[in-house]
Amino acid sequence: MQPMLLILVGAWTTLQADLLSDKKVLLRPPVNFTVKAIGLAQVLLHWAPNPDQEQRNVDLQYHVKISVPQEDEYNTRKTESKYVAPLHDGFAASVRSILRRSHSSLASSWVSAELKAPSGSSGTSVMNLTCTTNTVVSSHTHLRPYQVSLRCTWLVGKDAPEDTQYFLYYRFGVWTEECQEYSRDALDRNTACWFPRTFINSKGFEQLAVHVNGSSKHAAIKPFDQLFTPHAIDQVNPPMNVTVEIEETSLYIQWEKPVSAFPVHCFNYELKIYNPKNGYFQMEKLATNKFVSKIDDVSTYSIQVRAVVSSSCRVSGSWGEWSQPIYVGKEKKPLAEWHLIVFPATACFVLLIFSLICRVCRIWIKLFPPIPAPKSNIKDLLVVTDYEKAAWNETKIEAVSCVEEAGFEVMENSMF
Ligand SMILES: *[C@@H]1O[C@H](CO)[C@@H](O)[C@H](O)[C@H]1NC(C)=O
Ligand SMILES: *[C@@H]1O[C@H](CO)[C@@H](O)[C@H](O)[C@H]1NC(C)=O
Ligand SMILES: *[C@@H]1O[C@H](CO)[C@@H](O)[C@H](O)[C@H]1NC(C)=O
Ligand SMILES: *[C@@H]1O[C@H](CO)[C@@H](O)[C@H](O)[C@H]1NC(C)=O
Repeated sequence: MQPMLLILVGAWTTLQADLLSDKKVLLRPPVNFTVKAIGLAQVLLHWAPNPDQEQRNVDLQYHVKISVPQEDEYNTRKTESKYVAPLHDGFAASVRSILRRSHSSLASSWVSAELKAPSGSSGTSVMNLTCTTNTVVSSHTHLRPYQVSLRCTWLVGKDAPEDTQYFLYYRFGVWTEECQEYSRDALDRNTACWFPRTFINSKGFEQLAVHVNGSSKHAAIKPFDQLFTPHAIDQVNPPMNVTVEIEETSLYIQWEKPVSAFPVHCFNYELKIYNPKNGYFQMEKLATNKFVSKIDDVSTYSIQVRAVVSSSCRVSGSWGEWSQPIYVGKEKKPLAEWHLIVFPATACFVLLIFSLICRVCRIWIKLFPPIPAPKSNIKDLLVVTDYEKAAWNETKIEAVSCVEEAGFEVMENSMF
């Protein structure tokens, strides 16, 4: 009996192994695999389970592999998936069925599908497409206090004919909008676009898709797609209402959070205190919205603050713009101060020299009383001449008065 049982058990295990290897052979690829563009820079991959697959109840999965525009792969249990990618170079993907086991996995062959690249040479596409978003206070609705604006700029393709016209569209989630406000170059071609308000949510994690296509009578214009990460292109506004109070040697600086959908606790700040005259420069990274700084109180300081959304609220982007500089401190009037110091100093110096000279002169005169003999000193000479002049004048006056008196006398005498 025992050998018989062993044989039976042996036969059973062999059968099991055969069944497993059969399954490997029998794992069939999915059918009716299609790729369809369903939006700007977005495709839908769709397939159906193979109707000939025998093991209907096994835990089948699908392995999706993207080859164009960029290699990527993932597994899914569903029979369709959405994928976001630029489509101007076409799109190509493959899918296969897989069966995962604890120690091995089986896979079917691949089935492939693709989207053809749109027509037009790549030189006709726009180049250097850049976009930025900015939050502004909503002027239309009280339901949404903030709105996000979008601005994009680009360069005309180097092979684009002169009559080329470009059109820009964006997609964020399910919303797609065409640009209504373009800026044009000298040939009247659109080279920038402005959306004062959009459906973009700068708090969101979704990617922003931008599509620029074009038309020309002379050539097919190849469209261009680009994906942007909202936090990376979001320009944070400068902090609001920056105020600075000066008290003796302290600067009390305060500000409010920028115009933004993010709450107060989501911001970090950078504060710059700068004195161009003495080269003083202070930079502070802060998580609060106030700061006290010690200063010397005879200079003017320029104060600026900028903000960034902190990583606790989203993947942090770049610093926003600096606030307008605020100037505080003693109003410096360099010219006035210069006069105030230099004038009295010069005056004192001149007076000092003068008194010194006078003193020396007096001593000199006392030591060597003036002799009318030959004069070598011009000053002395001048003094003497003046003296002589004075003497002469006196005599002249005396003479005249004498003459007058004499004349009077004469007249008197002649009259009486
Ligand atoms: C595959 O597509 C064909 C033709 O469109 C259709 O007849 C067939 O039912 C589809 N198969 C599956 C499994 O959906
Ligand atoms: C456009 O981008 C290319 C590289 O992508 C760069 O070399 C070139 O300087 C850019 N042109 C302008 C005008 O920014
Ligand atoms: C540009 O793309 C939009 C959106 O896909 C489309 O509606 C429009 O017809 C296209 N225009 C040209 C000129 O290709
Ligand atoms: C900034 O100051 C102005 C006037 O001083 C005020 O109306 C406004 O509400 C302040 N901004 C914030 C965000 O508090």
